[in-house]
Amino acid sequence: DPDLAAKGEKVFKKCKSCHQVGEKAKNRSGPVLNGIVGGAAGTVDGFKYSKPMKAAAEGGLIWTETELAAFLAKPKAYMKGTKMSFAGLKKEADQLAVIEYLKSVGE
Ligand code: HEM
Repeated sequence: DPDLAAKGEKVFKKCKSCHQVGEKAKNRSGPVLNGIVGGAAGTVDGFKYSKPMKAAAEGGLIWTETELAAFLAKPKAYMKGTKMSFAGLKKEADQLAVIEYLKSVGE
């Protein structure tokens, strides 16, 4: 849905201080998010994750849309000890829109 992805690009402004996407994306204080929807958690090359994110990765966590929405709603409630210092996206519409945007940026 291109309209939802466009809305999600605006929501992604809240993420840009820490995350990059696209061909030239680099890890910043947060990992590159290319291909994150449907991808394995905690596996971006060269990024130093928190202990709980590493544990989730070892446990096989996959960022399905459902898991991502729950994480983005309240990161620190979803994953105690995550180093993602972000209060969260309260509105379900914003969660869904940013996920759609992340899908559109692909690999
Ligand atoms: C991790 C998305 C905002 C810093 C992650 C992950 C996702 C994500 C999907 C997991 C990545 C993986 O498993 O490889 C988002 C989105 C945001 C957002 C969509 C905006 C709505 C932020 C902000 C910051 C931040 C504002 C910095 C203040 C981090 C850090 C991690 C992370 C440090 C690693 C967490 C850990 O190792 O526990 N983010 N993020 N994020 N993000 Fe964000």
